Amino acid sequence: MNKLITKIGNLQFENPTILASGIMGEDAGSMNRIIASGAGGIVTKSIGIIPRTGYPNPTFVELEHGLLNAMGLPNPGIDAFSEELQQLTKTKTPIIGSIYGANSEEFINLAQKMESYKVDAIELNVSCPHAKRFGLEVGSDPVLLQEITNAVKQSVHIPVFVKLSPNVTSIADIASAAEKGGADAIVAINTVKAMKINIELQRPILANKIGGYSGKAIKPIGVRCVYEIAERVQIPIIGAGGITDGKDVIEYIMAGATAVQIGSAVYYRDIDVFKKICNECTTWLHEHNVKKLSELVGVAHT
Ligand SMILES: Cc1cc2nc3c(=O)[nH]c(=O)nc-3n(C[C@H](O)[C@H](O)[C@H](O)COP(=O)(O)O)c2cc1C
Repeated sequence: MNKLITKIGNLQFENPTILASGIMGEDAGSMNRIIASGAGGIVTKSIGIIPRTGYPNPTFVELEHGLLNAMGLPNPGIDAFSEELQQLTKTKTPIIGSIYGANSEEFINLAQKMESYKVDAIELNVSCPHAKRFGLEVGSDPVLLQEITNAVKQSVHIPVFVKLSPNVTSIADIASAAEKGGADAIVAINTVKAMKINIELQRPILANKIGGYSGKAIKPIGVRCVYEIAERVQIPIIGAGGITDGKDVIEYIMAGATAVQIGSAVYYRDIDVFKKICNECTTWLHEHNVKKLSELVGVAHT
């Protein structure tokens, strides 16, 4: 029996480890490698209407306990991206198309194109902490978020996930707005706003000055967000933020997640991190006499 199998709506994932957006999800070659390396699903890089080069370097720095980046959403634009998706190996692994936009029209246009490229679900990135107009402006305004989620839901036939930022006063309020808009699942969390100053040069390290922090250090923030969201919404939650080993997955599942996304750990533990984490989960379930992972969803709530 597959102890790790996970369902979100009608979508079935062979295991709960999904590649997070922005990490090796920009071209067919790297996405094919991730599929072959055992990920249960993959989310593409966030794609917009027109190509974007992103910010000048430095865009990425490794800190003591995590990674800090301000890439500036570099991507080839939705039309060119169809070529990448066409080159994906035929697979049962669900492919989730991540999109970002400035208003409902852009999101609808992007979502319909992604659907025509045969992705299995759409992820709305409304949570980039450093992209002006495209990120938190949308994801911290519950009225706008509900409107955009609803507009996308009405225009496609595949599931719509909404990816939220921890950089808001009440992530549960924002998640509730997405649910009211018809979201099929919530993804939490995107990176945490942060910065690093080079004290010798007396200047911020990133060209954009402020960026998004990811990796181990943000796991407690992600777990708290998933827990709070689970107390408010009925739809499934996909946990993300700092997941590096099997025990991290178990913790997120107990907080209320049905599946998880993994980003920075690809950097720390290499591309076969998905297989490694799945083996660690299976071992933990065996040692604790738990028949399947799904039995643990939300058990930390009393
Ligand atoms: C280099 C880098 C680029 C990212 N690009 C995107 C992106 O394009 N869209 C998005 O929704 N999230 C993006 N993220 C956020 C991740 O998908 C994820 O939510 C976050 O890193 C937390 O997970 P982690 O700690 O496992 O990395 C990016 C993260 C990193 C480190």
